[in-house]
Amino acid sequence: MSSIPYDTLRPKLTDQRILLVGGAGFIGHNLALELARMGATVGICDNLMVNSLIENCYDPKRTGVQRVAYQNFLLDRFLMLRESGVELMNCDARLLADLGRVFESFQPTKVVQMAAIASAVDAKAEPGLAFDLQLITLRNVLELVRPKVKDINQVMFMSSSTVYGDFEGDSVDETTFPRPEGIYANAKFMGERLVRTYRTQYGLGTTVIRPSALYGERCISRRVSQIFIENALTGKPLLLEGGGDGRLDFTYINDLVQGMVRALALHRGHDDSSTFNITFGNARTIADLAAVVKSVVPETILEERPRAVDKPIRGTLSIDRAREKLGFEPTWTLETGYKQYCEWYAEQWRRAQHQVEAN
Ligand SMILES: NC(=O)c1ccc[n+]([C@@H]2O[C@H](COP(=O)([O-])OP(=O)(O)OC[C@H]3O[C@@H](n4cnc5c(N)ncnc54)[C@H](O)[C@@H]3O)[C@@H](O)[C@H]2O)c1
Repeated sequence: MSSIPYDTLRPKLTDQRILLVGGAGFIGHNLALELARMGATVGICDNLMVNSLIENCYDPKRTGVQRVAYQNFLLDRFLMLRESGVELMNCDARLLADLGRVFESFQPTKVVQMAAIASAVDAKAEPGLAFDLQLITLRNVLELVRPKVKDINQVMFMSSSTVYGDFEGDSVDETTFPRPEGIYANAKFMGERLVRTYRTQYGLGTTVIRPSALYGERCISRRVSQIFIENALTGKPLLLEGGGDGRLDFTYINDLVQGMVRALALHRGHDDSSTFNITFGNARTIADLAAVVKSVVPETILEERPRAVDKPIRGTLSIDRAREKLGFEPTWTLETGYKQYCEWYAEQWRRAQHQVEAN
């Protein structure tokens, strides 16, 4: 299957109407832009509640340049989506009737469910909200697809590498038994189970995607990959717990999007139900990440800290299944993808500084 060149997938997407629920976020808008480029008709349903313009504007922790930079990222998302012809519907997917109206007007043939609080730390702080934003929205998607199984050939659910829990060996694959810990990971696992149950009971075509440690343009989620480059640019130290020996399967957004587009284009309809790890497929250390930042910002300060006792143990997610069934082949290493992202971030920081100085 790896012999299938990416651009030959286009004819499989041109007659598809793909609805991204929670699609105005970091992953969603990047996926929407690429699906539109590949010829699909793309609609986004989002209540603009998480990582949003309003949150960014009112959060007292956001300072001048940072606030302007994030505002630029968010506005750029909307301008790019508009220019690509992606329809944006402002709707809270927790409300069945409202989401039902979106389904009626957009008439999707595929639905990607990605609404969530996309951070384990934030989900722990607001467990009730985390369940609702992820599982009530998923319930509504599944309930709206159920009577339309003939018209909607695929529901894709954005799960997470956190369903695996602490890794016992160097790597996990899709047959590794999940041992999720905490609110976020357990909500993801419950979501996966719900999706599989609707598949076996009602014949939905389904796909579960497990990504890991993403980084990329216009993300404002403040994961370590963003915090590091921003700290470097503002003269703050990069904190390396345990010397930075923790390992994560860092993945550039372009690679994830390529894998998701393949999983949407190559899905075989109602008989098809698969789970895929879509990551770079090789865990790297936090110290490796810091080294790339230092190569872009040489004056970066590195500071070692003791390792937190309850730090999750992670590693590589095997992507053999996605390679074999989807022809997925990630291309962006930390030294290419993360470096490109850091250079972009530095330029965006200068842009925001000029805007602040001009005011
Ligand atoms: N970014 C990562 O590293 C990563 C890794 C693994 C899994 N995931 C999962 O992928 C998905 C997307 O992540 P992201 O990084 O793009 O997050 P994000 O916070 O950028 O986007 C999530 C979007 O969901 C929307 N949303 C939340 N509740 C909603 C509701 N009730 N109705 C409509 N829209 C709603 C938010 O407004 C936001 O635009 C999430 O499910 C996340 O858990 C992300």
